Amino acid sequence: MRKPLIAGNWKMNGSKELIETFGRAFAEIDLPSPVDVVIHPPFPYLDAARQAFVKTPVGLGAQTLNPLHSGARTGEVSGQMLNEFGVDYVLVGHSERRQLYHESDEQVHERVMAALEAGIKPILCVGETLEERDAGRSEEVVLRQVGYVMARLDSAQRQQMTIAYEPVWAIGTGRTASPAQAQQMMAAIRRYQSGFDRELADALRLLYGGSMNASNAKELLAQQDIDGGLIGGASLKVDDFIAICQSAG
Ligand code: G3H
Repeated sequence: MRKPLIAGNWKMNGSKELIETFGRAFAEIDLPSPVDVVIHPPFPYLDAARQAFVKTPVGLGAQTLNPLHSGARTGEVSGQMLNEFGVDYVLVGHSERRQLYHESDEQVHERVMAALEAGIKPILCVGETLEERDAGRSEEVVLRQVGYVMARLDSAQRQQMTIAYEPVWAIGTGRTASPAQAQQMMAAIRRYQSGFDRELADALRLLYGGSMNASNAKELLAQQDIDGGLIGGASLKVDDFIAICQSAG
């Protein structure tokens, strides 16, 4: 039985006030059943978030990390630094990082390794563009992104991984993948994983991301191979985000 994970990726949004609002709201509610919840605020809010979430079930996430421990990398943050702030999860390979900052599969793998070395659980983001979907290449692209990283990890490292399938055409567009489309890709990812290790494939958490909101979450999360969500826009509205967490029960 896989425990659902609901992750809120604030991207370059939010404020200290919003962190406090989330801290207060989550301290007052009881989530209906076992579910892991994590918020990924921008770096400068990590410490405020750690303090605000202390009496809540909300974990702390970062949005990226540099592969190096330290050095001349102006503007970058290492896994060690995130670890010092109590970060539990880090997004790696988000499509915005792949597209806007040209992160290759190789660089994504380096970041995954840096996270694992720092004791932080990576959430590996994968997904095809609209062009790739229209060309019938969705599965090939997604399994390449998954495979590049997973094939280079040992079994203990694979156990630390979560994979988020986010079709690029569904991110921030209001156009969600249908539950059947999302389920089909999740099943393909899980099948692929069973090539490495059947037990691990059964335990691997797979998240869906792309315009998930309080209205469509329940149906998406009810799919057999969808174990949670990576939420962008709707994770900035506390009531909507709580509703999504509650749908994961
Ligand atoms: O990381 C989150 C995803 O990019 C989804 O964003 O929910 O705004 O479509 P969205």
